[in-house]
Amino acid sequence: MLTNAAIKELVGTQAAELVQSGMTIGLGTGTTIEWLIKALGNKIISGFEIRAVSTSEASSKLAAQYNIPLIELNDAAKIQLAIDGADEIDPQLQLIKGGGGALFREKMVASAAEKFIVIADHSKLVEQLGAYPLPVEVMMFNWKQVEKQMHRLFGKPLQLRMKKDGGPFVTDHGNYIIDISFGEITDPAAVNNTLHDIPGVIETGLFLGMARKVLIGYPDGQTEWRERIS
Ligand code: A5P
Repeated sequence: MLTNAAIKELVGTQAAELVQSGMTIGLGTGTTIEWLIKALGNKIISGFEIRAVSTSEASSKLAAQYNIPLIELNDAAKIQLAIDGADEIDPQLQLIKGGGGALFREKMVASAAEKFIVIADHSKLVEQLGAYPLPVEVMMFNWKQVEKQMHRLFGKPLQLRMKKDGGPFVTDHGNYIIDISFGEITDPAAVNNTLHDIPGVIETGLFLGMARKVLIGYPDGQTEWRERIS
């Protein structure tokens, strides 16, 4: 039986086969994507040519180590394919993302791409979103007001994300993250819209109608593609 780390390696390596020489790709963030970056780095050694738009400083740093040329989103005329991980995936391929704090740029890159696919280990599959606390990127300027409004609107436990060594976690774009423990989200679109109506909310970790396909890895070494039906 494979460990979770080995499953992530499996899907990360398999996803690299979808990338063709000459493509501009969106590079996600997280421990699964680290394997994709490594696999792409190996392909570059054998003459493969790609350009990547990164979704985080962490992925940019790793991509640079593997000689993957990076460009800014504004300079990408086209992103043929974006590949990213997820924290939860429901049967309609709706996602919760942002466990690594990169949701804002991840959503911008995914929405700019012609095709967005997700790679994950089987533990990310859920029947309903919401057991994983929903990350919401918010302005520092009024985060306490935002938190109050979230509490009033949802009445769910809220947590300003903290760094392991203390102090609030600050995103690559200089914002805070509030994690909301919904437990279950029965209407993800309504939650997303309600959050976006709060001044000071920058982006939510709900990725709805964005992922076209997901590649899931299992402990027995099997992988499975799931495709969005509508
Ligand atoms: C980063 O902000 C997240 O959206 C990640 O893509 C997500 O947390 C998946 O991470 P792992 O691949 O580390 O499980």
